[in-house]
Amino acid sequence: MSNTGIKVFAPASVGNCIVGFDIMGLALNEPGDEIIAKFSDKKGLRITTITGAKGRIPKEIEKNTAGVAAMRFLEHIGESDRGIDLEIRKKMPFASGLGSSAASAVAGVMAVNELLKRPLEKRQLLKFAIQGEQIASKALHADNVAPSLLGGIIFTRDNATLDVHRIPAPRGLYATVIHPKIEIKTADARGVLSDSVSMKKQIEQAGNLGGFIIGLFRSDFDLIGRSLRDVIIEPQRASMIPGFYEVQEAAMNAGALGCSISGAGPSIVALSGNSLIAENTGEAMQSVFRKLKIDSELFISTINQEGAYKL
Ligand code: HSE
Repeated sequence: MSNTGIKVFAPASVGNCIVGFDIMGLALNEPGDEIIAKFSDKKGLRITTITGAKGRIPKEIEKNTAGVAAMRFLEHIGESDRGIDLEIRKKMPFASGLGSSAASAVAGVMAVNELLKRPLEKRQLLKFAIQGEQIASKALHADNVAPSLLGGIIFTRDNATLDVHRIPAPRGLYATVIHPKIEIKTADARGVLSDSVSMKKQIEQAGNLGGFIIGLFRSDFDLIGRSLRDVIIEPQRASMIPGFYEVQEAAMNAGALGCSISGAGPSIVALSGNSLIAENTGEAMQSVFRKLKIDSELFISTINQEGAYKL
């Protein structure tokens, strides 16, 4: 019997979607990570190869986001001794705000599920993927793993019970994400956040989150534009990203509906109502980083509706 294995792709994602800290995220078309899973004669799960990570990702199962996600899944289905080799192809930047660790966790668990001919449905894999991502983030939040796995824009009512819901993405909605080539670890970006929020800011943020969601359901780009202002997290993290406010201003001047930090940063996301504005926004954002002599890469994407898939 041939043992070519199977290959899975899991896409990058934009955590928080500007106004939904830890409870909203959307999937991009690219970049993303690939994982190949194959049966092995040796007992147990192993990570045999990691490419694209410059030796920075551990191969030990319990220290690797993909390894942990796949292992918790194998334990759940009673197959933890099954001989399976994983090859991880990192194709996304680390500590970038693009959901890199989440994509690896999603690809890991999905690759093993596919190899075993799907003992669980895709949606049931979420609870294993989130445990994998948790070792990188040091917190439990589904705003990257849920869209990377399931695609679309996902709202999480409650992270502990994974009460996640898909929100329709209006036709024409684009995400422009610029990644300045600096690194910010999610755990560090969470460390700067205050535990308390003023009542005034909470009311404002709740209004914006509600407005954003209603705007998405109604394809009302004006309402989306009025709603995309983060008054709680952005002011606390902006100083970690050189040129953040200049990039934001450039994006808004180019016609974006809203612009803020993607996930924990340093990537910055702008949402736009059509592809031309998305492109102009990307150019405007990139020219700021060019002026600051910071290398950056740009991703322009519609909302990925499929999430992770077998290649
Ligand atoms: N919601 C998370 C944060 C996303 O902003 O810290 C990063 O993984």
